[in-house]
Amino acid sequence: MLPDTLTSRCLLFLPSIIAVCGAAACPCEEPELCQQIRAQRDFEVFVFDVGGKTWKSYNWSMVTTVATFGKYDTDLMCYAHSKGARVVLKGDVHLPYIVDPNNRTAWITGKVDLAKSQFMDGINIDIEQAVEEGSPEYHALTDLVKETTDAFHSAIPGSQVSFDVAWSPNCIDKRCYDYVRIAESCDLLFVMSYDEQSQITGDCIATANAPLSQTLNGYDQFLSLNIDPKKLVMGVPWYGYDYPCLNFSQDGVCFIIKVPFRGAPCSDAAGQQKTYKWIMKQVNDSFSGRLWDDKQQAPYFNYKDQKGQIHQVWYDDPQSICPKAQSVKSKGLRGIGMWNGNILDYSDELVAKQQTAGMWNALLGS
Ligand SMILES: *[C@@H]1O[C@H](CO)[C@@H](O)[C@H](O)[C@H]1NC(C)=O
Ligand SMILES: *[C@@H]1O[C@H](CO)[C@@H](O)[C@H](O)[C@H]1NC(C)=O
Ligand SMILES: *[C@@H]1O[C@H](CO)[C@@H](O)[C@H](O)[C@H]1NC(C)=O
Ligand SMILES: *[C@@H]1O[C@H](CO)[C@@H](O)[C@H](O)[C@H]1NC(C)=O
Repeated sequence: MLPDTLTSRCLLFLPSIIAVCGAAACPCEEPELCQQIRAQRDFEVFVFDVGGKTWKSYNWSMVTTVATFGKYDTDLMCYAHSKGARVVLKGDVHLPYIVDPNNRTAWITGKVDLAKSQFMDGINIDIEQAVEEGSPEYHALTDLVKETTDAFHSAIPGSQVSFDVAWSPNCIDKRCYDYVRIAESCDLLFVMSYDEQSQITGDCIATANAPLSQTLNGYDQFLSLNIDPKKLVMGVPWYGYDYPCLNFSQDGVCFIIKVPFRGAPCSDAAGQQKTYKWIMKQVNDSFSGRLWDDKQQAPYFNYKDQKGQIHQVWYDDPQSICPKAQSVKSKGLRGIGMWNGNILDYSDELVAKQQTAGMWNALLGS
């Protein structure tokens, strides 16, 4: 009769006990590695991981949080915990669905249960949808962040809830969110200081993914809303944009095809996102070599493809990332992170190893 009794108890105390009854065995070699991280570290290094096994080559002496946007990997969870780093879920939901409070609660409960069953340390909420100020979705989103944070903190002590925001709070890409209340309601905002040309209103030309002064202006705007600097993590790009040029002027300006985006006539969608690994190979096949734009404080180069068309590639490297990392320190922000951790060259080639170490070390401004 014992199994029956157990079953009925579980049913009786649904849903709170079900997680215990259904608890997965710890997949780590040492069971204590399944315990969630509680310690808070002064400086965040927040990594987005999109899958694969390159996480093994991360510089774990600095990583504090890994947001897993790929398939859940128990080895990554165990390893991160052994280094004192958090592993957090990805959270995304179609906003009109969670205007309904019951739907919102169901979504949150699902995420908390999933995080617990996978021994994870929180969630990164990545809603990049357009929202109109004062709309039902606007309020629902703010409530979602608050309720998710409360639920995670009470179910998983020490857990971290973060929220991804565009490079500026100024309705970028029509994301008019309640940034102040959202920041108050979660542990940190990951500021995506990239894709800063998503809405081009001037000339339709190729420019930097994350120009220095535009990037820093974004932080000044967040801070001028009185958002606590310790709530802001600066996100830098480990990828760049490859733009095919419609024409290429004598002084090296690359005109790009018009791709409208959320009200703007052209956009970085005219280019293709490329990994730092690809970029470091391609620069050797460029006719310009690496160039430096003083105004935007960013590197770029020009190459000709097999059909003879000229492309211009804009990206970030240690020289453009270092001053950003230094301003993280001077503005007293919570830390730094990148999209994404997997896209460096983690092979054993000597040059690749140096370039990869250079990118990691640039996060600390050195
Ligand atoms: C609740 O969410 C589901 C999807 O999970 C959706 O199909 C449904 O329309 C939502 N209900 C309301 C009232 O928004
Ligand atoms: C390149 O194309 C743009 C947009 O079509 C045009 O305004 C510009 O004058 C052209 N420049 C050259 C050098 O042909
Ligand atoms: C690019 O060229 C430089 C200089 O010739 C060389 O040291 C480096 O190995 C090359 N990089 C790649 C990724 O081929
Ligand atoms: C990893 O980062 C630390 C700083 O936290 C640095 O001292 C170390 O040299 C880095 N390791 C490599 C292989 O670059």
